[in-house]
Amino acid sequence: MGKNVKQWQRANPGWDHFMKRVQTSAYGPKTKALAEKYARYESFGNVGWGMFGEVPPIIERGDGSYLFDADGKKYIDMLSSLSVSQFGHNIPEINQIIAQQSQKLIHHFDFPHPERVKLSEKLCRLSGIGGDSKVAFGVTGSDAIELAVRAARYFTGKPYILTPYGDYHGFTYGTAALSGKGGLRQYFYPVTPTAAVEYFYFPHEYRKPDDEFPGFGMETLKTFERLLEGGENVMSSGVDGNNVAAVLVEPFQSSAGYYVPPREYLGEIRRICNKFGFIMIVDEIQTGLGRSGKLWAYEHSGIEPDIICISKALGGGLPISAAVGRAEYFSAWGPASHINTQAGNVLACATANYILDKVSSRQCLEKVNQTGAHLLAGLKALQDRHPIIGWIDNVGVYTGIELVKNRQTKEPVPAEVAAFVRDEAVRQGLIFERGGYYASRISLIPALHMPIEVIDEAMAIFDRVFTVTEDKYNIG
Ligand SMILES: Cc1ncc(COP(=O)(O)O)c(C=O)c1O
Repeated sequence: MGKNVKQWQRANPGWDHFMKRVQTSAYGPKTKALAEKYARYESFGNVGWGMFGEVPPIIERGDGSYLFDADGKKYIDMLSSLSVSQFGHNIPEINQIIAQQSQKLIHHFDFPHPERVKLSEKLCRLSGIGGDSKVAFGVTGSDAIELAVRAARYFTGKPYILTPYGDYHGFTYGTAALSGKGGLRQYFYPVTPTAAVEYFYFPHEYRKPDDEFPGFGMETLKTFERLLEGGENVMSSGVDGNNVAAVLVEPFQSSAGYYVPPREYLGEIRRICNKFGFIMIVDEIQTGLGRSGKLWAYEHSGIEPDIICISKALGGGLPISAAVGRAEYFSAWGPASHINTQAGNVLACATANYILDKVSSRQCLEKVNQTGAHLLAGLKALQDRHPIIGWIDNVGVYTGIELVKNRQTKEPVPAEVAAFVRDEAVRQGLIFERGGYYASRISLIPALHMPIEVIDEAMAIFDRVFTVTEDKYNIG
């Protein structure tokens, strides 16, 4: 292995490091014993080692917005299985659907069955894509993205996919190239298949590229448009032509740290797509299904996408995904051009039918907005007391918090400070994700209807954790 390759790969800290993390953790004896086996038998590449400072709590059961570890310790769940458990845990209606359906049929390859037919019709009706639309089913979010991208490339006969830096669209060999995040690449030796993928800048009001100039970073889309107009770039095939099949975007950047761009963002992307004839693919895998207080987050921008990708919360905890798009894209290719043994699982289609009916109702979405308003009020009250909170992004219950050393300069806290906040919160019984371009953000992913008393309980934990953090790291 050459010297450069070694430098490029991220070092594995080794067995002793992981065992120390288990042994020095604050968990009870049963959780620790299970965590030792987790370290012993599971790949060190498991995401849990990256998302928690010690070791992930070993969760045995969930109830509503609470999780309980193997020792019975209770945690408030502000992770929701990373946007999967949209209504919390142990939902009687979902349990009942699974129990009843499992007595009839559990799986039927990638073939149609009554629940799947019902679901495809519902997805087309609710997608918001005008005219005739069609669905292609997968199992994971990455599957849905690959289906959308393959359909767009096949239909247009063009190779390029344009996507912003910082977007996350999956971590398979196909989708890692579409996730504009350098950190992921280190684990895809020798290279991800990045051919025919180009990136552009994602605008955000708080950290626009240059504070000296006005605007929300939206001007970078204009620069991008100029580039597309000219002939001297890989996306152009001549003065009037281009090599681009589609633009692929998240409405808000989720895995990057729950960043909400200016409202004009998707409108500008739509305009650029119309101008150059690109297909617009919107990844609603994390933002969709009610999280933003609307069924789809793209609705906040008043645009109509050409394809949307859906997964995570769709199956109510069971794995299923779908790409829904204009009928011509999914009619262009021939039979068996996509095959996935586990796609469109019967139980998952049955629970997805329930979830879609529920999240598309006006009452459900109103309640999301009320829950989000209570959460935001709680966080604003914390911001009044805690200088570490620099900025809050919030739409519906979709919430990201930027932690800073100094509010005036917007200097982010070092990554270790945000990690301390996360780990201290876990010790106090609150689980959420740390993220951000500077590893200085907190993403809150509560159940859509998290009860207000649970939100208040979480705010009390944050209050204590921020106090300890500000003292320890001399902030404010
Ligand atoms: C916006 C978005 N797209 C795609 C994916 C990939 O989904 P999966 O992990 O199910 O492949 C994720 C996962 O976090 C995501 O957040």
